Amino acid sequence: MAEETLTITDNRTGRRYEVPIRNGAISATDLQKITSNGSGSGLLSYDPAFLNTASCRSAITFIDGERSILRYRGYPVEELAEHSSFLEVAYLLIHGEMPDPTQRQQWVDAITHHTLLHENIKKLIDGFHHDAHPMGILVGTVGALSTFYPDAKDIFKEESRRLQILRLIAKMPTLAAFAARHAVGMPYAYPDNDLSYAGNFLNMMWKATELKYEPNPVLERALDVLLILHADHEQNCSTNVMRAVGSAHADPFSATAAAAAALYGPLHGGANEQVLRMLGEIGSINRVPEYVKRVRSGELRLMGFGHRVYKNYDPRAQIIKKVADDVLAVTGRSPLLDIALELERVALADDYFIKHRLYPNVDFYSGIIYAAIGFPVEMFPVLFAIGRTPGWLAQWQEGLLDPEQKIARPRQVYTGPPERHLPGIRAAKAGAGTSAG
Ligand code: ACO
Repeated sequence: MAEETLTITDNRTGRRYEVPIRNGAISATDLQKITSNGSGSGLLSYDPAFLNTASCRSAITFIDGERSILRYRGYPVEELAEHSSFLEVAYLLIHGEMPDPTQRQQWVDAITHHTLLHENIKKLIDGFHHDAHPMGILVGTVGALSTFYPDAKDIFKEESRRLQILRLIAKMPTLAAFAARHAVGMPYAYPDNDLSYAGNFLNMMWKATELKYEPNPVLERALDVLLILHADHEQNCSTNVMRAVGSAHADPFSATAAAAAALYGPLHGGANEQVLRMLGEIGSINRVPEYVKRVRSGELRLMGFGHRVYKNYDPRAQIIKKVADDVLAVTGRSPLLDIALELERVALADDYFIKHRLYPNVDFYSGIIYAAIGFPVEMFPVLFAIGRTPGWLAQWQEGLLDPEQKIARPRQVYTGPPERHLPGIRAAKAGAGTSAG
């Protein structure tokens, strides 16, 4: 097949250029040959916030925001949420294929084997203020882990990468649970290797004086599904950070700390926390129309609504709504769910939301489930970070091994003053016959 190309005419010079189109994209560096007078630096593409710029080729996650499609390595997320476990999905993201039974067992055993933290990490957590946000503790402690594992710097050794990936997936829940217990002054509960990944996390969160913690199977499964739904989402803000930091060849613990810091923001992983606060502020179904009116007027944003990529229903939100029913059947109905359902109903029928193509995103219902299970709101972004860790690591590794990648370093369009000089220097330069303009 003949190569697909794009012909560009530069109306400044009348010159025509032909640039190849590959996989539906032109390469921005091909624009460099377009210069206004045939010399100097070439044309840049200007794209703040990467609205239409692909930063990598990736074989991990596919999203079609118009058609509400999300697939990990080709598998629809709905199928994975119903028929697989979070650790299988983590394996899939990292290795590209679902594990066979032997691989599955080895993977689960290896992760279970790495759940403990070095005792000095406990001392580090102890040093945080009693009301420290657990996401702040997570960002700090996951970064600190890089000092415990200097071998993590061997990023081009496959065996080292494998080990750090196991450590990170295994230790994130332990860091998260320890951070939560620090806030309430409870002694840390150590991992229980008899339990599943999600079940053990519930154990580390809530084990008190009982000899053995037994997680409720419905809540355990609900948490596992939520982790699956958060496991990857192609080039979102935190993943972009993970890749960018990884491109400087930092170790994966440092890169994960940076990605988690991005996730902390209220426009990203912090949104589920904001949703719950918002539902609390609305307080009752009757006040929903008034709240939506304030959103329409531009006074506020409806948290948990809207997405950079989905201009239709976020497929994860559909699955989560169903999980919410299962969880609330165990924990008892939440008045917040009634407010959320009414908010969704009113918003989806409202011109503003229709015009702006705003639909519930993954965070709209996840907070209700987390709260029903018993997690404090501060833990919501932390839960998101646990789920997203395999995705971050898969993307980090893919970027690192991609021969087309280099250190991430965007260009800019400079808008500041032209060259100028400090007053004294100007006089001196003027005296020496130099223009200081
Ligand atoms: N409520 C009200 N209006 C909104 C909302 C919202 N939640 N989201 C977008 N809009 C409006 C904007 O005001 C803007 O309107 P205008 O064109 O009239 O000025 C238009 O829709 C486009 O909004 P942008 O901010 O340009 O869209 P962008 O793609 O940059 O933002 C984002 C996406 C950040 C998710 C946004 O929709 C938002 O702030 N949502 C609320 C926070 C949230 O739920 N974040 C979680 C995202 S999912 C995740 O990270 C897991």
